[in-house]
Amino acid sequence: MKLRLLDYLACPACRSPRLSVAPLKESSEEIETGTITCSDCGVKYPIIDGIPRLFPEARDYFHSSGGNSVGTTSPHFSTLQQTIENYSAYQGKVYAPLADRLKNEEILEARSGLLMSDFAGSVCIDAGCGVGRFARAMARAEAQLVIAFDAGYAVDVARSQSGDYANIEWVQADIMRPPFRNETADRVISIGVLNLTGTPDLGFQNLSKLVKRGGTFTIYIHLCEYIPWNKLYSVKTSLGRLYDIAVKERLRRLVAKLPDGTRLSICRSLWRFRCFVVWMEKRGAPGRLLARLLLKFGPMYSDKPLESAESNIARNFDCYSTPNQHTNELSEVIDWFDKTRRYRRIRFTPYRQSVTGWADKPREDNEPMLIEYYPAKSIESIEAAGVEV
Ligand SMILES: C[S@@+](CC[C@H](N)C(=O)[O-])C[C@H]1O[C@@H](n2cnc3c(N)ncnc32)[C@H](O)[C@@H]1O
Repeated sequence: MKLRLLDYLACPACRSPRLSVAPLKESSEEIETGTITCSDCGVKYPIIDGIPRLFPEARDYFHSSGGNSVGTTSPHFSTLQQTIENYSAYQGKVYAPLADRLKNEEILEARSGLLMSDFAGSVCIDAGCGVGRFARAMARAEAQLVIAFDAGYAVDVARSQSGDYANIEWVQADIMRPPFRNETADRVISIGVLNLTGTPDLGFQNLSKLVKRGGTFTIYIHLCEYIPWNKLYSVKTSLGRLYDIAVKERLRRLVAKLPDGTRLSICRSLWRFRCFVVWMEKRGAPGRLLARLLLKFGPMYSDKPLESAESNIARNFDCYSTPNQHTNELSEVIDWFDKTRRYRRIRFTPYRQSVTGWADKPREDNEPMLIEYYPAKSIESIEAAGVEV
């Protein structure tokens, strides 16, 4: 990390911006090892391999001695620890080789409804950056500074892949206690992360506070239903959702507790199973029916017909790595943005699960938030053009 990062940080334990750094090992302007201390609550956070580990339990977790830390026994931390450890295998082995081969600029534009030029000159936060594919895309778009954080060792993988990027700072931190000052960033993005936290609404509120007046906040989550947004669920949809909650999610949680190698083997088998379903689909009406049932009730989390084995395995491994997997209804997501009263306008982008809010000047009490939708057709046309989501 560079000293410039301190201008954006706040203590994740007490929210104080009064933090100081004691470097132990530096090379040029980069602090490789050291400690960040909060002058108000005294909690100390280690800097290891150039990355500040800014969660209150970090000192205990990394077995450092001396100074305050917050004990590592809370139920929240046990769940976070599962995320940290399960995802490290996913990020290193499965996702890192794939991530930079995707069309990340196009994906980010499509998901955010922004242009890459909108990131130029901005301070950006990538919350749950994974191996940093979007952080690097924003840095290439000449963002002033990208602060990319993730709960897990993904940030280590990300940093090791980003040697040439002078405008990125990597941080290990938790969305539930983000270590940043309020209204600190022009662009906040969180792609595929809130849905992995136990309380996506709280995560949303935490991240929304980081957006400056005039800035934007983009989230990509799992929505239960995109279209039609104004109709009641049908009996079929309701039964489908009941099955997902009562059976599929329970099974997923059990698998998420298995060792990395076992989960990876299961996901490889799911790719073969997916190929079998594709084969079934071509076997006339009965085959199509069976294929539809297998897709609906089977244990796969990826039903995209166009993707490669690598993408399919990565997507399933992602779903089988997280302790939590939430879906939210469209109305809940609208409510998250609306409740803050910070957003005059939100837009559901062509990817059915992403939304961007514009935090222009606060709305009057009786002023409704403007909600824009893209037609569903665009999703298919983007997928048909072969862009990975
Ligand atoms: C599906 S990956 C998405 C990564 C990246 N946004 C992308 O699109 O490539 C989800 C990431 O969220 C991170 N994550 C999960 N819970 C988190 C939390 N509470 N705080 C920060 N990151 C978290 C995981 O470690 C993982 O790297």
